[in-house]
Amino acid sequence: MSTQVCIIGAGPSGLLLGQLLHDAGIDAIILERATLEHVLERVRAGVLEQGTVELLERAGVGERMHAEGLVHEGFAITREDEVHHIDLSSLTEGKTVMVYGQTEVTHDLVERRAQTGALSHYQVEAVDPQDFDTDHPHVTCRIGGENIRINCRFIAGCDGFHGASRRAVPESAIRTFEKIYPFGWLGILADVPPASDELIYASHSRGFALCSMRSHSRSRYYIQCNAGDSIEAWSDDQFWDELRRRLPAEMAEAVTTGPSFEKSIAPLRSFVAEPMRFGSLFLVGDAAHIVPPTGAKGLNLAASDVHYLFEGLRAHFLEREDTLLDAYSQRALARAWRAVRFSWWMTTMLHRFPDNAPFENRILETELAYTLESQAAKTALAENYVGLPY
Ligand code: FAD
Ligand code: DHB
Repeated sequence: MSTQVCIIGAGPSGLLLGQLLHDAGIDAIILERATLEHVLERVRAGVLEQGTVELLERAGVGERMHAEGLVHEGFAITREDEVHHIDLSSLTEGKTVMVYGQTEVTHDLVERRAQTGALSHYQVEAVDPQDFDTDHPHVTCRIGGENIRINCRFIAGCDGFHGASRRAVPESAIRTFEKIYPFGWLGILADVPPASDELIYASHSRGFALCSMRSHSRSRYYIQCNAGDSIEAWSDDQFWDELRRRLPAEMAEAVTTGPSFEKSIAPLRSFVAEPMRFGSLFLVGDAAHIVPPTGAKGLNLAASDVHYLFEGLRAHFLEREDTLLDAYSQRALARAWRAVRFSWWMTTMLHRFPDNAPFENRILETELAYTLESQAAKTALAENYVGLPY
């Protein structure tokens, strides 16, 4: 088998890159380890920056997103019983975010890929990128029990944090930066109306909580939990009780409870791998960087990587010009580090750290107080939340 770009991973970054390449007339094959059902069922992010929305439109999947997605002009930050409004739109000269689940984005991209006849393989085993220090790399794998070799010009490693692409890079060629946070997020989905029209980020002495949504009738809630907690230890009733305790009284009363149909615990981590290019192999999205979810940046960062890589690949194949491709790692990392910083800052300011010294706690309380009272600080928060320019 041969192709121009071999994409490893059919998460949002692999699917989006695949569609943009396909529409530009550049041949790409996607290799995915999981089943299609598994990929479509995964529940993750929910907030899209304008840049991500524009990229999805460009990939031909804007229609359902605009019909069903919810445009948000602001959100609330609560501190114990106080409510503070962050008016994203007025703080950023009219910018907004779109609440539209990653599950829906993936669904739309999978459907569009099928319509356009582009090739994806699921349940692919033993994917191994090779010879990427040359101009003629290849990927070996097993599809339906058969050993396959795919010759290509470039490999896009869109295979997430635990994928094969980053692992294939020799240790001496890569530098990694990591911070593990001493807590996790317990998240649920329930078919109940959201507590508020806007997202609520709650800072509380019992721990952080987030009220989000997927539609007017489907709510997504998260609470900070202990790093070692298991899902079995959290009944729905315990979850709803703990969530309401962390919200101001009027917001707690507005929470409609009901049975959850999804419940999971995510660990929180910041991670960056440098560089993001190794010869003919490019790392994209979670394969290169992870952010804690507090700033809603993970998926958006995957989209901006795709933008930079697509621009580079298009210029290479269609214009025989490599300046943009050569700048990929530097451009993507510059933006990624800004999102890593913002996500770390939001996480640090809004969560309770079990081992913090009293001094550190006072500093964080002061950071939040300053952010909520200063127009300049709120502007910086809003500018980052809606997404820094590409
Ligand atoms: P992924 O979505 O991880 O996709 C990688 C794909 O590669 C997967 O389909 C995987 O099966 C496949 N793959 C892996 N290894 C191989 C292999 N060896 N061979 C072939 N295929 C392989 N972000 C937010 O902004 N808000 C959130 O609330 C949020 N919640 C999250 C919860 C969890 C549990 C996780 C893990 C992430 C969450 N994120 C969240 C982050 C966001 O979902 C990711 O940033 C986003 O999915 C990145 O997309 P990606 O395509 O780069 O990677
Ligand atoms: C969602 C997740 C986030 O991490 C966030 O900051 C906002 C919303 C969500 O899943 O809806």
